[in-house]
Amino acid sequence: MISGQVDGMSTSRTAVVVGALGVIGRYIVERLTGEAGWSVIGLSRRSEADRPGYRHLAVDLLDADAISSHGAALSGVTHIFYAAFQASSGAAAGYASNIAPNRDMLVNAVSGIARTSLQLERVVLVTGTKYYGSHLGPYRTPARETDPRHMPPNYYFDQIDWLTEFQKGKMWDWVELRPQTLCGFAPGTAMSILPAIAVYAAVSKELGLPLRFPGKPGAYSSIYQVTESSHFANAAAWAATEPRCGLQAFNITNGDYFRWRNLWPKIADVFEMPAGDPQTISLVQHMADKADLWRHMTKKYRLQAFDFDKLVAWPFADYVFGCDWDVMSDVTKSRRFGFHDVIDSEDMFCRLLRRFREERVVP
Ligand SMILES: NC(=O)c1ccc[n+]([C@@H]2O[C@H](COP(=O)([O-])OP(=O)(O)OC[C@H]3O[C@@H](n4cnc5c(N)ncnc54)[C@H](OP(=O)(O)O)[C@@H]3O)[C@@H](O)[C@H]2O)c1
Repeated sequence: MISGQVDGMSTSRTAVVVGALGVIGRYIVERLTGEAGWSVIGLSRRSEADRPGYRHLAVDLLDADAISSHGAALSGVTHIFYAAFQASSGAAAGYASNIAPNRDMLVNAVSGIARTSLQLERVVLVTGTKYYGSHLGPYRTPARETDPRHMPPNYYFDQIDWLTEFQKGKMWDWVELRPQTLCGFAPGTAMSILPAIAVYAAVSKELGLPLRFPGKPGAYSSIYQVTESSHFANAAAWAATEPRCGLQAFNITNGDYFRWRNLWPKIADVFEMPAGDPQTISLVQHMADKADLWRHMTKKYRLQAFDFDKLVAWPFADYVFGCDWDVMSDVTKSRRFGFHDVIDSEDMFCRLLRRFREERVVP
């Protein structure tokens, strides 16, 4: 491929989205391909069809030679958006300890592309609120970018430290973005709350149950925050191109806070069912026998056919609904640097869950 060109279209920027099929990567691809001036290359192990302005390369980034074998295709890259991720087995609060693959994929992707692309301008590294230890228990809130790290291990620290060292003396720079609980749709992702809520609500309704909050009573009342995936993609596009963002970290959330207690009845309304009192259950355990029911519901309601295991990652839902402490990031810094978009999170949940119903992901 000629540098800076996809399908013969002349462009000034070429982005590589690493982890292009994830709940973040998909939305960055969509955001950039929707804007003139970008050509976009996506990387992930699974394949995906090319389309105008977009080329997908199926690579396993744990293979240190994966990038060099695609050297020609990756020779004119100006921006890397790094959103690849590998979960570990077990509880989602433990994902941050999964150091080796998450460090190695970043090292292989960035060092490989930097070697082949002399025009590289910026690397956008996606980390998250777990930087502050939000997965461990109560922590200082609202969290600010200058707050100290928690006691390692946390693969974000390994990624940031490696990138900081590797960038020294180079012509390009980096920016680190810290979102919280992405709200989008990416089948197969390990961390996505929306499909978990949608499927849990649909199964509850099918069984004639009210929509009970399945988490801890403290989580029902605590302050929480989320980041709509499309909103995050806007922030990533901004951070990639705003000169002042170089070598800076930014919290990126919807910019507001909410309590499940206030939101839950509105979610029940979206599914036209009564809200019930909280009842703490493990969704991992209580959804383990619901795959047959979901197959039956898929036929009965003519839903899109998804593998139950790919549609929802229940360990993440248990994790989110188990946070009985405030989860709050301060987004003043990104506002001061020029990113002013905000999303009303309660409206967002209702809007996106309604869309799930309209698009027959759930009844
Ligand atoms: N999701 C959230 O709520 C959330 C919240 C805050 C922070 N974050 C952070 O954001 C980052 C991205 O997470 P995410 O939730 O967007 O992940 P995700 O939805 O699971 O997506 C991960 C992407 O990485 C790709 N990938 C995994 N292993 C690969 C490999 N060996 N080679 C090439 N590609 C590989 C996956 O595609 P294939 O499977 O096809 O390879 C997929 O495209 C993580 O550091 C995460 O901690 C996420």
